[in-house]
Amino acid sequence: MHILVTGGAGYIGSHVVKQLIEETDHHVSILDNLSTGHERTIKTLGAIATQMGKEAPTFYQEDLKNFAAIEALFQSVRFDAIIHFAASIVVPESVENPLKYYMNNTVNTTHLINVAKHHGVRHFIFSSTAAVYGEPDTPQVSETTPTEPINPYGRSKLMSERVLIDTSAAHEDFTHVILRYFNVAGADVACRIGQSFPNATHLIKVSAQTALGRREKMMIFGEDFDTPDGTGVRDYIHVDDLASAHLRALEYLAEGNRSNIFNVGYGKGFSVKEVIETMRGVSGVDFRADIAPRRAGDPAMLISDNTKIRSTLTWKPIYDDLKLICESALAWERQVDGL
Ligand SMILES: NC(=O)c1ccc[n+]([C@@H]2O[C@H](COP(=O)([O-])OP(=O)(O)OC[C@H]3O[C@@H](n4cnc5c(N)ncnc54)[C@H](O)[C@@H]3O)[C@@H](O)[C@H]2O)c1
Repeated sequence: MHILVTGGAGYIGSHVVKQLIEETDHHVSILDNLSTGHERTIKTLGAIATQMGKEAPTFYQEDLKNFAAIEALFQSVRFDAIIHFAASIVVPESVENPLKYYMNNTVNTTHLINVAKHHGVRHFIFSSTAAVYGEPDTPQVSETTPTEPINPYGRSKLMSERVLIDTSAAHEDFTHVILRYFNVAGADVACRIGQSFPNATHLIKVSAQTALGRREKMMIFGEDFDTPDGTGVRDYIHVDDLASAHLRALEYLAEGNRSNIFNVGYGKGFSVKEVIETMRGVSGVDFRADIAPRRAGDPAMLISDNTKIRSTLTWKPIYDDLKLICESALAWERQVDGL
């Protein structure tokens, strides 16, 4: 198959491209505007392919908002499937600048689905998020838990889910998988690619940066939640286990199975304090973490019920270990000074 990976120069997309190169014979093309992705990631992925005697991914530096250019690309190249990562992803920014999120995440995605459908693309895998659940009543959420996102980022993603669901309902030759990610963390264990995002807010990345002295201290937002140690509890998944869920989803669709939605997480949670203690342990640095007030819209606990993906796809996570996740994040952080 010829797979188009949008956002393949970014954090999660690059790990999926790496696995597509290492584990499949698909031809991979990457489309990315490099707004938060990096050219060096494209080069690294090319080098991984070359080392394996495989063809390097074709890279299209393009913005999804350039509808004419996207249409021209699909007229000249035939893709069998799309894995769509390209998006804007910072929740507080989505509150300040909602239109950026609706334009990039919903409008551009809708256009991409339209072009894909028009040009006979058969399968579409979409990066969604646990943010679509908002502040659920239950700590552990399944795919049938009501979706009530509480910020424009979550809403922009949920709207795209709807567009996909309605499109596949009307066209049985166009199938999709929606993957709702929980808290993604860590990096390629060989340390070739990882998360390079300026001013990242992800807890494990921030704690790695603090352990390395790149931040003087970090903050713990809220110590008065209804959780065992009072800090928020989340389901952290290693990026390579998340990446492999995309390969299994692609196989699932290629085998002719119906469109579906899956949570992707390990189904268990760790508190902010547990994460910080683990990072202190693996780094050997007793770095400073100060208590700050809760942030608006942070639920006490958000953990996936992953029964459905485990029973439907042949997905077998292999990095389900907080220490390993923190070690890989720290190793990556050591070599990407300042990003
Ligand atoms: N990181 C997480 O914890 C997390 C959690 C849940 C869901 N997601 C979803 O996963 C996907 C990937 O996230 P990530 O963490 O890898 O982010 P990222 O910012 O590292 O990757 C996004 C990539 O898309 C590209 N891009 C953005 N807008 C584009 C456009 N208009 N045209 C072309 N390229 C564009 C960027 O340059 C970047 O390479 C996103 O859809 C995000 O919503 C991420």
